[in-house]
Amino acid sequence: MLEIEHLSLAVPSREGALPAVSDVSLSVARGRVLGLVGESGCGKSLTAQTVLRLGEYQGIERTGGTVRVDGEDVFAMDEPALRRLRGGRVSMVFQEPMTALNPVFSIGDQITEVIRLHLDVSDAQAKARAASLLASVGLSEPERLMRQYPGELSGGMRQRVLIAMAMSGEPDYIIADEPTTALDVSVQARIMDLLRALQREKGLGMLLVTHDFGLVAELADEVAVMYAGQIVESGPVEDIFDHPAHPYTRALMACRPEVAEPGRPLPAIPGQVPAPGRWPEGCRFAPRCAHAGSACERPVPERAWTSPNGSGHWACCVRVEELS
Ligand SMILES: Nc1ncnc2c1ncn2[C@@H]1O[C@H](COP(=O)(O)OP(=O)(O)OP(=O)(O)O)[C@@H](O)[C@H]1O
Ligand SMILES: [Mg+2]
Repeated sequence: MLEIEHLSLAVPSREGALPAVSDVSLSVARGRVLGLVGESGCGKSLTAQTVLRLGEYQGIERTGGTVRVDGEDVFAMDEPALRRLRGGRVSMVFQEPMTALNPVFSIGDQITEVIRLHLDVSDAQAKARAASLLASVGLSEPERLMRQYPGELSGGMRQRVLIAMAMSGEPDYIIADEPTTALDVSVQARIMDLLRALQREKGLGMLLVTHDFGLVAELADEVAVMYAGQIVESGPVEDIFDHPAHPYTRALMACRPEVAEPGRPLPAIPGQVPAPGRWPEGCRFAPRCAHAGSACERPVPERAWTSPNGSGHWACCVRVEELS
């Protein structure tokens, strides 16, 4: 299991550290996909990158909680253990494939370096493994590709290279943070098919960060909906899609391009996600919620509503019963 437990984070600002993620708990079992969804600025990437403690390099402060990988506390690890974890048991695929690759080194140099970091193999073995990894992500002529530089490849090819690199340490878990948003629409589906195939074939646990509810419907087993630094609803994917409980989840689902009326502008939720430290005291979504009442002015317990069907589906809203 990959477990995030009661995680709270603060981000630096001119006014000092501001809370940006509060008391977030999530877990991803091997072989399962958890979709983490929410609008831009909700804290999805901050949460996801904490699994590998990447926030430390950006001045992001952990104010509470921890992360465990197969029971091991990531925050208790020393630097060598962290290096083995990153790209080893847990690897990450980011949104922008260009920034994750170094433009001045060939693809072959970069992928063999990652392989040698995680596996005890010779140069020749690393090269052979690199070629087979590149082929396994659907890249043809891997030997030729290894002599090329990132700038010579298309966005889709670069993302395939990064996925090959992410697989090189034989991970058990993969964190995919908006892995296709920077790519052409025509390429997005093929990259997602590849990730899904690898996830199934290798039984990986996957934390899929996305704002795309359609993708979640296709891929995820469980869903966590994030708003203003909090998980506001969580449960099995069927429950969330059949009976979204939180007004925020319902609003997000109503804004999906798939359900929009043809010829009409895409609906959007009015207002904006409050910035870190600017959260209302009561329900954080209340200022944008069409159903908010006086009960929403007080702080809402995380699992204010739990599904009577015992599926583990819950929502951080005091008005679910009244609204359904
Ligand atoms: N290094 C940082 N320094 C200061 N503020 C940050 C930093 N990283 C993130 N933030 C702020 O924290 C909030 C959450 O950011 P985060 O990147 O987690 O959002 P997100 O949900 O991933 O959004 P998106 O869908 O746009 O990727 C945002 O308001 C962002 O501006
Ligand atoms: Mg993000």
